[in-house]
Amino acid sequence: MIKVLLDLDTGIDDAMALAYALGSKEIDLIGITGTFGNVYTEEGVQNVLNILNMCNANEIPVYAGETHAITKDHFTRLEVSARIHGENGVGQVEIETSPKKKETQSGVDFIIKSVKKYREELVIVTTGPITNLALALQKAPEIKDMVGKVVIMGGALTVPGNCNAYTEANISQDPEAAKYVFESGLDVTMVGLDVTQRSILTNADTQRWRETGSVAGRTYADMVDYYISQHDVAIKGCYLHDPSAVIHAVHPEYFVMLAMHMTVTTEGEAEGRTIGDPSKLRDPNPNVKVCIGVDSQTLVNDLNEVLLTLFKQN
Ligand code: RIB
Ligand code: CA
Repeated sequence: MIKVLLDLDTGIDDAMALAYALGSKEIDLIGITGTFGNVYTEEGVQNVLNILNMCNANEIPVYAGETHAITKDHFTRLEVSARIHGENGVGQVEIETSPKKKETQSGVDFIIKSVKKYREELVIVTTGPITNLALALQKAPEIKDMVGKVVIMGGALTVPGNCNAYTEANISQDPEAAKYVFESGLDVTMVGLDVTQRSILTNADTQRWRETGSVAGRTYADMVDYYISQHDVAIKGCYLHDPSAVIHAVHPEYFVMLAMHMTVTTEGEAEGRTIGDPSKLRDPNPNVKVCIGVDSQTLVNDLNEVLLTLFKQN
C-alpha cells in the first residue's frame, strides 16, 4: 500500500480524485490538506469533510492550508470556477454537513510533519495551486531530501493551456509556487493537460454509479453530470484532470513520461507557462517527469472499477 497525502481545491474533479483515493486498495490516505483555487480554502475543506462523512471515512484528518498565492495577500475566486464547479464547488449538489471539523494544525505544518514521519514512503498528490507544498519546502527545507514522490496535476507542455494559450489553471493561480516546486530538486511528476484531456468520463459512466442506489453513488453521479454539462458538448463527457494525478501515484505504468528540468514563466504574456529550463539543458539529471501519453481506456476502466466498489459500500 502507498501512503498518500492529498492537497485539494475541492472542486468536482478533486472530489473524484478523493473518491479514487478512498476506494483504492492500494492507497493508504494519511490526510488531506485544502487549498484555494476552484473554491476558497474553507469551502474546499468543508466539501472534503462532507464527502468523507458521506463515504464513512471520518477517520481521515483534514487540514486547511493557505488561502492565497505566495506573492499575493488575497485570493478572489474566478467566475469561471463557479460556473464549472458550481457555486458550492460540488455542482450545486447538496451533501449533508459533516459533524466532524477540520484539524487545528495548518496544512503546511501537516505536510512537514507527514514527510518527516513517512519519508520516502510518502507520495504527495496536489490537484490545485501548489502553494502549500512550496511553503512547506520553504519553511522546512530539510524535507526536500525525505519526500518519496510528488505528483502534481497542473501544467501543459505539448498542448495549449486552459486559461489562455500558455497556462493551465492550477499553475496560473500560483506560478511562483509551481516554479519553486519544479526547481526544488524534488522527485516531481507533472500530470498536465497533455494527458488529462485525453481521458474522458461520460454520462454512461455516471449512470452506472447512480444505479448502485447508494447516497455516494447518486451524489457523485449528480456532481459529475453537472461537471460534464459545463464541458464543450463535442467532448461528450468531462476531462479527468485530478483523478489522473491520483491514479498516477499507484499506476505510473498507464503513462508515457518524458524526463526534463521544468520551470515556470512568472512574468509577461506567458506567465504560468510550464516549460523546459533552458539553463539546465545540459544537466544530466532531470528531476521532473512530464506525462505526455496515457492509456486512457485502462485509466477510465480503473477509475470506474474503484469508484463503483466504493459507491456500492456507501
Ligand atoms: O486545469 C485543471 C485543474 O484546474 C483541475 O485541478 C481543476 O480542479 C482545476 O483546479
Ligand atoms: Ca483541482
